[in-house]
Amino acid sequence: MTTESAEQEAATAQEQAGSAIGAIDLRSDTVTRPTPAMRAAMAAADVGDDVYGEDPTVNRLEARAAAIFGREAAIFVPTGSMGNQIAIRLHTQPGQEVICEARAHIVDWEMAMVSAFAGCMPRTIHAERGVLTWAQIREKLAPAHLYYRAQTGLIEIENTHNMAGGTVTPLEVLHEIWAGARDAGLPVHLDGARVFNAAAALGVGVRELTEGFDTVMFCLSKGLCAPVGSMLVGSRETIGRARRYRKALGGGMRQAGILAAAGLIALEEMPQRLAEDHANARLLAEAVAEMKQVEMDLSAVQTNIVLFGLRNGIAAGNVVDRLQKRGVRASAVGPQAIRLVTHHDVDRAACVQAATALQEEIARTPA
Ligand SMILES: Cc1ncc(COP(=O)(O)O)c(C=O)c1O
Repeated sequence: MTTESAEQEAATAQEQAGSAIGAIDLRSDTVTRPTPAMRAAMAAADVGDDVYGEDPTVNRLEARAAAIFGREAAIFVPTGSMGNQIAIRLHTQPGQEVICEARAHIVDWEMAMVSAFAGCMPRTIHAERGVLTWAQIREKLAPAHLYYRAQTGLIEIENTHNMAGGTVTPLEVLHEIWAGARDAGLPVHLDGARVFNAAAALGVGVRELTEGFDTVMFCLSKGLCAPVGSMLVGSRETIGRARRYRKALGGGMRQAGILAAAGLIALEEMPQRLAEDHANARLLAEAVAEMKQVEMDLSAVQTNIVLFGLRNGIAAGNVVDRLQKRGVRASAVGPQAIRLVTHHDVDRAACVQAATALQEEIARTPA
């Protein structure tokens, strides 16, 4: 089959799958399906056994990720969670603390693996909009002379911050953290699941936005639309050790080039369109911000996530159920909190439609 006809066939299959699903799905950017170009590249991918280091497509993806982030090496991992947990294990010793924001993904959504796998304890700090500062971190460092206190092993930052509503940590805040951590002799890991969204929002490159981190995890499978996969980047030595932990966790994949082929397109072609998702998120946010039933800080809507509260005892679950009946899917992330996430598979027209449904259903839902 020629590449063109493979792309055509993939596009038709995707259209059919799309109409079967039929909903405007704003639950997460993880619901994005691979694009026709990705499906064609997957079908045509050159593959080998990646556990032997012989998959040419995985090797190409890892080399490109390392080059884009200005690092010596990168490793392809099945999930962002695995990438984060490998990094935490790499930088710490059992019995240490990992300083992170209170709503961090590594705390709430990674199955307590900070403790179960690395043997560490999260030392959490609640930060406004999820943006940790060096002043806050410095206060939580365990002084080295107190031998009877668990020592700090790692600082972890999440940018953008998912559960704070896709908020962005600015570059100058990061510079202070990197300098402070360097002086304290501590490693810093970035959960950059959506670091390309942060870069797009700030108008800087991911290399500049991540240069002071010892390791960076980023996801190919969220707003960048790849079906599976994340990357961990760092020094050659660090990533060499990461391969052992990936295998230990059962993440050694064989002909993974099938997945990496989609990942390459995600990496090269998809970051450029994220601003579109950010504009759509703003459209949704502005549609509901003025409603008397809604509590929202519009200035906190900075990327592709819209997080808002409901007043007057209106239950988020009830609003979400009503929306679903109208073909709009959203997440209740608390008794009175709703999260919407924009992405490639929900275009401007769909967001306009969703905005109307949101306004009507929020207004109609009784307390
Ligand atoms: C901030 C953040 N980090 C890590 C992850 C983990 O990614 P995965 O679902 O691939 O394990 C997610 C997933 O939603 C996320 O939002």
